[in-house]
Amino acid sequence: MEALNAPRGTQDILPPDSALWVELEGIIRRVARSFVYEEIRTPLFEHSELFQRGVGSETDIVCKEMYTFADRGGRSLTLRPEGTAAVARAYLQHNLANRGLPQKLLYLGPMFRYERPQAGRFRQHHQFGFEVLGAGCALVDVEVITVAIAVYRTLGIQRFTVLLNSIGCRSCRPVYLALLRESMTPHLDKLCPDCQRRHAGNPLRLLDCKNPSCQPFLDQAPHSADHLCPDCRSHFQEVQRLLSLVALPFQLEPRLVRGLDYYTRTVFEVTSPDLGAQNALCGGGRYDDLVATLGGSPTPGVGFAGGLERALLILVERGAANLTPLDVYLVHLGPEAQERALLLSQELRQAGLAVDQSYDARSLSSQLKIANRKSARYTVIIGENELRRGVAMVREMALGQQTEVALSSLLAHLRTRG
Ligand code: HAM
Repeated sequence: MEALNAPRGTQDILPPDSALWVELEGIIRRVARSFVYEEIRTPLFEHSELFQRGVGSETDIVCKEMYTFADRGGRSLTLRPEGTAAVARAYLQHNLANRGLPQKLLYLGPMFRYERPQAGRFRQHHQFGFEVLGAGCALVDVEVITVAIAVYRTLGIQRFTVLLNSIGCRSCRPVYLALLRESMTPHLDKLCPDCQRRHAGNPLRLLDCKNPSCQPFLDQAPHSADHLCPDCRSHFQEVQRLLSLVALPFQLEPRLVRGLDYYTRTVFEVTSPDLGAQNALCGGGRYDDLVATLGGSPTPGVGFAGGLERALLILVERGAANLTPLDVYLVHLGPEAQERALLLSQELRQAGLAVDQSYDARSLSSQLKIANRKSARYTVIIGENELRRGVAMVREMALGQQTEVALSSLLAHLRTRG
């Protein structure tokens, strides 16, 4: 029978990489705590309509990439392709505004998009997202950008660029869209079929096009940031002023519109040259109309989400250390020593050390080999002879130094060595 593999575009998260995932999630939660974002967990599937209305039926995500199915009750459900619409839905459904505004929320988890898999692009990928609902001022836009950078800096990712743009609001965007459409009308027959469709239905999506033959025309398109209403213009200026105030360098990117329809005003992406073609570490922006689109009262929102796989790609390529630390590998020789090792491991674990040992009787050299392979900091060797004398041989692996230590002071010895 042919072996069954995981579906295309998905991946198993295996040790030792799984330890990096846990570490990464821990770092994200620590950053969230320092900025006081609370965790929210929404279902992995939602009514398809949520994404059609929230993300926009003209977007690639909704048109081409959703995993949509009818359940046994005939409802159309969709595996979530992103988190923001679901967070806004939950905010409304549970009246989170009653807890006080703004609501600052964090989520972590898998997202599903039927995309062509390649390095850094999966059909099941994982995002961490930060969302702020109920605050419209530029300070909050800057806070979420700062959160994103705090995560990457804590991870030790140094090479990145913050791309920034403003795509205006309900009042100034229609004027800009008319200009954009008009500017592309003379080139319509030279644009790709997708762009021809976008030109008629949702011209902002033209600027998302990756087709090389469309680029020379799209490069001539007018810039949304040059056609903002006074309120949007001052908001955008304030975002830039505050980013400079916190010494966060950014680059204005007039063609950045993002692939989801809910954005208003600020949009941003953090890209890294260490990522290859799929170079977006994270992306986000303001979405002041989303809650109202889903039936709530007008509530401003802003946030971003980043791909965990992409952050990890950089960490793994940089050769980040195996993050499953093993403090002590206990080597035991003989049945009595094995039992003593069992008791000793309990004592050391209670003191907070990570301890491992062989489950069966093996030779000294084979146990030492395992200790080496697992990168143990210390190997503690107990043979019949040591047992009789109440001592153990402690080998500090990195230094290759071996010391005899009384079993009664083993813990203190390991502690003083740090
Ligand atoms: P997005 O740009 O579609 O935005 O996705 C956010 C991030 O998820 C991307 O920057 C990328 O790192 C990662 N990502 C997206 N698709 C894939 C994929 N197929 N494989 C691997 N990684 C991927 C959103 O989803 C918005 N909800 C972000 C947001 C939050 N805006 C406001 N709040």
